Amino acid sequence: MSTRHFLTLLDFTPSELAMLINRAIELKSMQQQGLVYEPLKNKVLGMIFEKSSTRTRVSFEAGIAQLGGAGIFLSPRDTQLGRGEPIEDSAKVLSRMCDIIMIRTFGHEKVETFAANSRVPVINALTDEYHPCQLLADMQTFQEHRGSIQGKTVVWVGDGNNMCHSYINAARQFDFNLVVNCPEGFDPMPELVEANKDRVKIIRDPKEAATGAHMLVTDVWASMGQEEEQKEREKVFKKYQVSPELMDLAHEDAIFMHCLPAHRGEEISHDMMDDPRAVVWDEAENRLHAQKALMEYLLCNEEA
Ligand code: CP
Ligand code: NVA
Repeated sequence: MSTRHFLTLLDFTPSELAMLINRAIELKSMQQQGLVYEPLKNKVLGMIFEKSSTRTRVSFEAGIAQLGGAGIFLSPRDTQLGRGEPIEDSAKVLSRMCDIIMIRTFGHEKVETFAANSRVPVINALTDEYHPCQLLADMQTFQEHRGSIQGKTVVWVGDGNNMCHSYINAARQFDFNLVVNCPEGFDPMPELVEANKDRVKIIRDPKEAATGAHMLVTDVWASMGQEEEQKEREKVFKKYQVSPELMDLAHEDAIFMHCLPAHRGEEISHDMMDDPRAVVWDEAENRLHAQKALMEYLLCNEEA
């Protein structure tokens, strides 16, 4: 079987994804019990970061170490990637030395090119278009707090960005309804919305969108690479702020997520992170457990 990669949630079947979430919950419990579990002894994870990161870097590096392997952090500043060595060549070389590789970069086509030239599994650790690893953590967090997400309604508030695109894929793979609450001109990719129109709809008004929802989720107004648009976006997105008052319109059991980092006073009110409905710290922690499950699956499962 050819090498499996995890570039978007569509690379895995719904049952594989469900299995990964359950496994992440199991690995979390094993870690909490202090069990040492090192199935990836001597395995090496290459970690290419062309954008900044706190959670993704630490969760992957800690995760591979806990599984018995080692991570190598690679930034374009001090590798030949930053001096124009082709992605194809870099993939061929690095995949002869590493057992698995994760990449955070700009255009999604870069991870596709890398994967097409890699002998080992490649994981998308965020591109301009998708952030599937975050969705593994978010789906784990929902399951831990509220049980199955199947048939529930999630509202995405804010920019139709990489996270929003991964939420659309998640709606399909985990079988929930997604309301995208974004200002005009900041819609997610139309072809993705069209392909999932049975479960994804756009509602412009935040109050209308939030009403009755089982979960609200948001993200920064300007993503990495859009820093120069920050001021302009602050004006356009002004009313797209998640607050305890907006949460009050949602279902009584509704929870709030944010992939972080968060900008208080912009996409969330100053008090949103402290609201008991916010599960953002569990969500951040679950990056570790979900990605351990992912790496274990890609490297240990002969069927994968
Ligand atoms: N949520 C997330 O991916 O965070 P980092 O940018 O810190 O990795
Ligand atoms: N949309 C954000 C997510 C950060 C984790 C960005 O791409 O910067």
